[in-house]
Amino acid sequence: MNRKHLITLFLLVFAALSFYFLPARKSKAPVDSFNNLLPAFIKDSFFLEAANPFTQQKADLGRYLFYDRRLSFNTTKSCASCHDPKFSFTDGYRRSVGALGDLHQRNSTPLINLVFKKHLTAGDSSLHFPEQQIANPMFHDHPVELGWKGNETDILGRIASDDFYREQFNIVFSAEKNPITTQNVQYCIASFLKTILSFNSVYDRFYYLNEKLLTASQSNGMKLFFSDKLSCYKCHGGLDFATPSVNDEEGHPAYYFNTGLYNINGTNSYPLQDRGLMEYTRHETDNGKFRVATLRNLAFTAPYYHDGSAATLSEVIDNYLNGGRVIEKGIAKGDGRLNLYKHKLINGFSLMEEERNDLINFLLCLSDSSLVTNKNYTNPFQDDETK
Ligand code: HEC
Ligand code: HEC
Repeated sequence: MNRKHLITLFLLVFAALSFYFLPARKSKAPVDSFNNLLPAFIKDSFFLEAANPFTQQKADLGRYLFYDRRLSFNTTKSCASCHDPKFSFTDGYRRSVGALGDLHQRNSTPLINLVFKKHLTAGDSSLHFPEQQIANPMFHDHPVELGWKGNETDILGRIASDDFYREQFNIVFSAEKNPITTQNVQYCIASFLKTILSFNSVYDRFYYLNEKLLTASQSNGMKLFFSDKLSCYKCHGGLDFATPSVNDEEGHPAYYFNTGLYNINGTNSYPLQDRGLMEYTRHETDNGKFRVATLRNLAFTAPYYHDGSAATLSEVIDNYLNGGRVIEKGIAKGDGRLNLYKHKLINGFSLMEEERNDLINFLLCLSDSSLVTNKNYTNPFQDDETK
């Protein structure tokens, strides 16, 4: 990125954020006012794929496709099978299960506030927009997620044979002769994903709307989170507690870090099935580097980490307390605290029992329970039935 791009990016982000936060400060909860502004805001955002200009109609159609099991080759899974609003668009499993019953390498990611994300997925730094990422669950074959590979014509045929879809695609893509294409399916679903916003946690209302909502324990937890002793905020910063402000070993801004979860047999490696950023860059030093996870909606997204290997927040805090995770037996045996590629901020600290609880209480108050019942995002087929 050259200087000019950087300046443009900065201006756009600044404009976007002031646009979002200034009106939000007045009276309404941020999520409401932001939702109203969304289409206007979204039109010229830096974060959007120019080839797919946002329209609400496209997003509405995408919402049906997102929940439709006919989009998997054997009609067993939809996007929502692994991204259920009940769990903040994750699935509650350690690792997701594809249409053939195979385990995915990773834990499902919450699909919230994606318009603000610079990098999608936990380890592929080339994916910036949902439009690009969606091809993964559709076409990947190890493991199969939706199983489009070799079945594309069949699946598109199913969509084309449905009167509702035929009509809607013709309306949304009225300039196209044969609008039911893989790309348009992706464009619609991506548009729906961009509308999923979650900014209505207790913490948001405290921070952006000055509502006096934090308990003494949450407030103390917040102080710990933002302290230099714990340094959580240095990696979990920004709107979504997922934008780091620290650099990598070479002094470049970094988005992916090794937090010392594994050190298989002292080889500094994470499990072979998933070594994070290294799977994409092939650099040994990227072994075990994963994108900083958002801390929003943790109340709904257990289990945690890229592979769901921590069942509770308490386990996660233990890993930070100890400066890494020690696994005593099994194939993942090893002392993560000694992993050479671990980031230097992960070096342990001590907390009293009460402080530990305070920190967890603070993390939980970043959860937005209005998201899981938000009628704009639920399964539209069910809504149609109850109308
Ligand atoms: C078999 C389960 C499964 C299905 C089906 C599935 N996903 Fe996912 N999804 C995942 C997992 C697991 C991840 C985490 C992947 C990673 O980090 O590499 C993910 C990640 C994503 C991300 C990246 C989010 C982020 O914050 O980086 C997007 C976007 C996404 N999925 C959209 C979809 C859409 C749209 C569909 C339907 C076309 C879909 N997924 C179907 C399991 C699934
Ligand atoms: C050096 C950067 C860094 C620091 C410092 C850091 N984290 Fe993290 N955090 C990460 C990364 C990277 C992940 C994803 C790790 C993975 O999936 O392998 C993560 C994951 C998490 C998760 C799991 C989220 C999920 O949904 O899977 C929680 C909770 C968490 N961190 C809380 C904290 C707290 C609390 C602190 C301070 C004590 C902290 N982090 C400090 C980088 C950091």
